[in-house]
Amino acid sequence: MKVKNRLLVKTCIDEINKDVEKVSQLFYRELFHLDIHLKNVFPGNVVFLNRKFINMLGTLKNVKHLENISNSLEKMGERHVGYGAEIKHFPTVKTALLLALKDYLAEKFSPELEAAWIEVFDDVAKIMEQAMAKLESSGTVQQAHDETGYDVGLLDEIGGEEVVFKVHQRFYDVLFDEPWLEKFFFGKSKESLIIKQTQFMVAAFGGQNNYTGDTPAFVHMHMFITEEMSEVRARILRKAILAEGLSESIAERWLKVDKAFWPAIIKKSVDECVMKCQGQLPIVAKKPLGYDINR
Ligand code: HEM
Ligand code: HEM
Repeated sequence: MKVKNRLLVKTCIDEINKDVEKVSQLFYRELFHLDIHLKNVFPGNVVFLNRKFINMLGTLKNVKHLENISNSLEKMGERHVGYGAEIKHFPTVKTALLLALKDYLAEKFSPELEAAWIEVFDDVAKIMEQAMAKLESSGTVQQAHDETGYDVGLLDEIGGEEVVFKVHQRFYDVLFDEPWLEKFFFGKSKESLIIKQTQFMVAAFGGQNNYTGDTPAFVHMHMFITEEMSEVRARILRKAILAEGLSESIAERWLKVDKAFWPAIIKKSVDECVMKCQGQLPIVAKKPLGYDINR
């Protein structure tokens, strides 16, 4: 049953993706109706809210091989403690999600499809909840999440999507030839990455959300990306922003948004890498001999 249900949910998410903002609106309406206190866990305006909803769907879409990604789901569960989520909230989120789907899909939301959604949500929630319970019982206090990860006024100040695109052209031109980080980009399409990264950041900067890719955690889960590599990448990004004629203060704000996604990507050891399919190897890039970190 599981394989069929996971596929049903994935197809359903692909279908609602074109109108995801509408479904997101229905979801939050139901959610805050069920528990008004959740407004404290989900603060912010519609841009923040939509992105969180899209992230949740992005994860539920990827459960085809749930058993392979359970490591990354455990880490995601741990991050949720820092977001103010509690285990008791899961049933409320699930109910709001089912009601929103029912509202949106009407008669297309068949009992078979509903059962599939319930199974998939429960499978994912179980792994997240177990990791949250473990963290809570260990008494490890997670750092409170910094909501300033999004900067809704930034896009206009940057000068619009076109400028974001140009910065990313400069950025990937350097990254694809960077002696250490280039290893990750071997065989990848630079043009497509420029477009996707631009769509992703435009949404985080308060613009329209045209990004239909996976969550950062999922995209990078087989890549052994360290904090040090992220600092190197950030320095290249900063240079690209300044080279495009933007100010220091814009660069700071841009990097702040970028850094909000680091916890979902950075790993402490190669064992934290999660493969997307059988036979896949983690991407590991050894620092080249004599590499100057301040180059
Ligand atoms: C199966 C259930 C859920 C899934 C798959 C899910 C997935 C996600 C994902 C992928 C993100 C993006 C950030 C990251 O990767 O760490 C996210 C963010 C978030 N989630 Fe969930 N989530 C679920 C349930 C919940 C519940 C029950 C709550 C609390 C009521 C919650 C609250 C949040 C909040 C507040 C954020 C935003 C963090 C920020 O400020 O960026 N989620 N969720
Ligand atoms: C050192 C750090 C990083 C490295 C080495 C890296 C590497 C990569 C690589 C190789 C891909 C292509 C994946 C594929 O096509 O299979 C990719 C995609 C992507 N990355 Fe990163 N990344 C890093 C950090 C980040 C950060 C911090 C963000 C978010 C701000 C981000 C956002 C994205 C997005 C949106 C995509 C496109 C996903 C898609 O194809 O749908 N990356 N990254």
